[in-house]
Amino acid sequence: QAVRIIGAPTDYGANRRGVDMGPSAIRYAGLADELEEIGLRVTDAGDVLAPRAEERDPDAREPSVGTAKFLRETEDVTGQLADEVADALTQEETPVALGGDHSIAIGSLSGSARDAEIGAIWFDAHGDFNTPTTSPSGNVHGMPLAAALGIGEFDGVEWCNAPNLREGNVAIVGLRSVDDAEARAIRDSDVTAFTMSDIDDEGITEIVEDAVSVASAGTEGFHVSLDLDWLDPKEAPGVGTPVRGGVTYREAHSALEIVAESEALRSLEMVEVNPILDEHNETANLAVELAASALGQRIL
Ligand code: ARG
Ligand code: MN
Ligand code: MN
Ligand code: MN
Repeated sequence: QAVRIIGAPTDYGANRRGVDMGPSAIRYAGLADELEEIGLRVTDAGDVLAPRAEERDPDAREPSVGTAKFLRETEDVTGQLADEVADALTQEETPVALGGDHSIAIGSLSGSARDAEIGAIWFDAHGDFNTPTTSPSGNVHGMPLAAALGIGEFDGVEWCNAPNLREGNVAIVGLRSVDDAEARAIRDSDVTAFTMSDIDDEGITEIVEDAVSVASAGTEGFHVSLDLDWLDPKEAPGVGTPVRGGVTYREAHSALEIVAESEALRSLEMVEVNPILDEHNETANLAVELAASALGQRIL
């Protein structure tokens, strides 16, 4: 089995600087070596070209769409990422995208869904289901799932819609911070949302098995989007939007081991690692470990 690492060093989709260093931090934490150790053939395609926020005008797009910032840059960078992800899949390599802020998921989802019906599992404290008018921040990292699904103003916006991803094949796991209008949009959609309370009630194993069923039903595999703020900030301090009450280290591994066992993982991404806020790169180290679990690493 082969994997292709693709970095997307963006930060303009988030409100904190520093996530643009995520791809470096995750590489430095030994991602390629770790994956080679479990028997995978690893190619590192380097990074897509992403601009510095300082050199751009956040509102440059005409006509601007609601409050969304840096949409022009988002279109450009996610377009590059989508092409690289789709190309990896044609070469039978599993794409592993490294963020960057979560806006890059628009690219990984549309690339992964270019030539096949796919599902998606969204491991995140947040729903990332805002639209340019519901977003309280204007930060596109709070919108990528809505964008890929064509919700609200994103309806029919070709560059960001994932062509073969249906709401009914999307599961969000670990929700605990959702804006009001965003919560309504999630409820009104056909997306399956598992909150932290659901994990408390049923256990991580049950919930992730359900998420895998949702994402696999009638699809040719699923994309996993892993926002490191899914974990409790005690485990993953190096993220821009930490929220208390996240999953534990062991729950996270368990979840990704279930993903691996499904043998339906099509593409993977690890986002929102912020080395500036991290402690001794431990969040990047965790990203490496969890990627290895998702790609088949076992204790014995
Ligand atoms: N809901 C908030 C917003 O729309 C926070 C989103 C955080 N997203 C993330 N990928 N960390 O701005
Ligand atoms: Mn998040
Ligand atoms: Mn997110
Ligand atoms: Mn592991």
